[in-house]
Amino acid sequence: MPPHDFPLLPPGFRFGTSTASYQIEGAVAEDGRGPSIWDTFTAEPGRVVDGTTGEVACDHYHRVDEDVALMQELGTGGYRFSIAWPRIQPTGRGPANEKGLAFYDRLIDTLLEHGQQPMVTLYHWDLPQALEDDGGWLNRDTVDRFAEYAAIVGERFADRVEHWIPVNEPNVASVLGYSMGTHAPGKKLLFDFLPAAHHLLLAHGRAAIELRRAGATSIGCANNHAPIWPASDDDADVGMSKIFDALWNGMFLEPMLLGRYPADLMPLFDDVMQDGDLATIRQPLDFYGVNYYNPMKIAAADEDSEIPFDVREVIGYPTTDFGWPIVPDALREWLVMFRARFRAALPPIYITESGCSYATGPDENGVVDDQARIDYLRSHVNAVSEAITRGVDVRGYYCWSLMDNFEWAEGYTQRFGLVHVDYETLKRTRKNSFHWYADLIAAQPQHV
Ligand code: NOJ
Repeated sequence: MPPHDFPLLPPGFRFGTSTASYQIEGAVAEDGRGPSIWDTFTAEPGRVVDGTTGEVACDHYHRVDEDVALMQELGTGGYRFSIAWPRIQPTGRGPANEKGLAFYDRLIDTLLEHGQQPMVTLYHWDLPQALEDDGGWLNRDTVDRFAEYAAIVGERFADRVEHWIPVNEPNVASVLGYSMGTHAPGKKLLFDFLPAAHHLLLAHGRAAIELRRAGATSIGCANNHAPIWPASDDDADVGMSKIFDALWNGMFLEPMLLGRYPADLMPLFDDVMQDGDLATIRQPLDFYGVNYYNPMKIAAADEDSEIPFDVREVIGYPTTDFGWPIVPDALREWLVMFRARFRAALPPIYITESGCSYATGPDENGVVDDQARIDYLRSHVNAVSEAITRGVDVRGYYCWSLMDNFEWAEGYTQRFGLVHVDYETLKRTRKNSFHWYADLIAAQPQHV
């Protein structure tokens, strides 16, 4: 492919890849790691479509050198991963487990030796089970525990970590985990999930304070954002799509950036809100991380429905193997709107996740011809480039994911990687998209 076909990003733009601990590490009972809510959840029949767990996953815990070598070959400048809280504090409280810290010490040092700047998430959903036994994120005490954990890892790693993200996707963690019950801990509380959302936001703020105290210089977030489209022009659908937008997007970004909940939702937090909470949540952020996958279409639900909205299919666009619509324009539009609305309150943006699921595996020659992923990545990097042209300050793009991995309730059935993983042999195979991403990076005038 001629080099001019690659989207070119401004000098200094960062390309990276993203993963998360439970999705890739395996070694769940090794070196003192305690059980997390995902170990418990995946052991319950019917929770994960293929009945699998993260017990072995990609066995990354034992393959750090091989996996970091893949990143170096890609030519990325950064790698986003998460620290498993139950490796550091097996029961979520008390002194640090030295073997857990030592694993991430080695990972971070190996990354730095191979030109990969670490972007570290503290919580990518693997809550120590012992804390869930006491109420998990519904219990305000979990926020204090999280602040202690943040202080431990901050003290140990702040000297070597470029970017920090306290909490990955607090909306997905609280809505799927505590409202719908489709993710761990599997609680179906419908609107009673709101305390979990508030406590995750508070955890973000408290951890940011601890990290800063420990010397961290760049702290952000990784919020999942979906542009919300009304299913029709009908007043009921338009009104409900606005409420859903407030619940999915506004409820998480407004407290972080403005120190308030969307006005319509504010009364819902009366029971959990304490003086000073919103100020704690609104910590100065050095960057705002956006995880983007697709827009969502919302309609008002029937009167007798459990919840007042219906998620409808977005029709008229191609979809990934997950069935998610491919709409790169929606990413560009969302970024442009985001800047227009928040202006001075908005720090530089990183795309902390963007990617797609396609099942393509190796053919008889070992080639993984995942042209659909190349097309997806090209169009989304292009959307970012267009947003930059329109004045949005986007500094980086981290592809989800470096390799195929455990996709939560979908088990191993959805493959998001640039690298194919054979879950029998754990062999890694570079997909065509891996080579394309490497070429894209090499074509940039100057990347970091
Ligand atoms: C966002 C989550 O952070 C990540 O864990 C997940 O695998 C991807 N979305 C794809 O669903």
